[in-house]
Amino acid sequence: MNQLVDKPLSINDISAMKRRGEKITCLTAYDASFSAVIDKAGIDMLLVGDSLGMVVQGHSTTLPVTIDNMVYHTQCVSRVRKRAYIIADLPFMTYSSPEIAAKNAAQLLQTGGAQMVKLEGAKVDCIRFLVEQCIPVCGHLGLLPQSIHQLGKYSVQGKEPEAAQKIRDDAQQLQDAGVGLLILECVPAALAKEISAELTIPVIGIGAGVDCDGQVLVLYDMLNIGVSKRPRFSKNFMPGNEGIEEAIKAYHKAVKSAEFPGSEHSF
Ligand code: KIV
Repeated sequence: MNQLVDKPLSINDISAMKRRGEKITCLTAYDASFSAVIDKAGIDMLLVGDSLGMVVQGHSTTLPVTIDNMVYHTQCVSRVRKRAYIIADLPFMTYSSPEIAAKNAAQLLQTGGAQMVKLEGAKVDCIRFLVEQCIPVCGHLGLLPQSIHQLGKYSVQGKEPEAAQKIRDDAQQLQDAGVGLLILECVPAALAKEISAELTIPVIGIGAGVDCDGQVLVLYDMLNIGVSKRPRFSKNFMPGNEGIEEAIKAYHKAVKSAEFPGSEHSF
């Protein structure tokens, strides 16, 4: 872990971790205080996720989150961050065309202070356009929370061979379109292992097994605070640790050493 750097990590630093086989750690963050604690604990990446709609704003889905909400929370996070790489979500309907995506993504980078934006699904045209405008993009496949009203429920994706092949093909397409990172959410561990091996970009899992290049969790789930039940793939890191910073350090260590996620957190 490179704790002595005085400037934020770049995408090159994150990609180098994959190449040398070092697991990448990521947590969601939505405000300055948690951002500072997570950063101090040595976590490699901060994701300002639109999950803030659920864990901060109390909505039942991520759909009500606006681009103004995302810019505000990204500013809060980036203002105090010293080392961690910052990714911010493009919320629902803010990337319905390449031009709309570029306008909103630019706000997250220029006003929010993010280094990369994340969008859900195989939106290849938007991704290509953003990358052409020099906007780094993180893809997100598997369970797509912004599609909850199409999906009907939050469940594991890619269990059937056809669905698994579609996720593999989409992952390759996203890499070809220029994404710098890919998040895989709630997919079978075996599928995530194959995709992580096939792609050259880092693959970050959440409910996707231990063989991804890194892991992300929703901060409030791993601290066991929140309005809804912790998902099976997450873990409460508070027991046995004295306070929040220690729990975050324990998560960091468990990911780096591939102790987390265990089979009980995987599908
Ligand atoms: O919004 C979020 O927190 C996310 C993670 C679940 C990956 O997208």
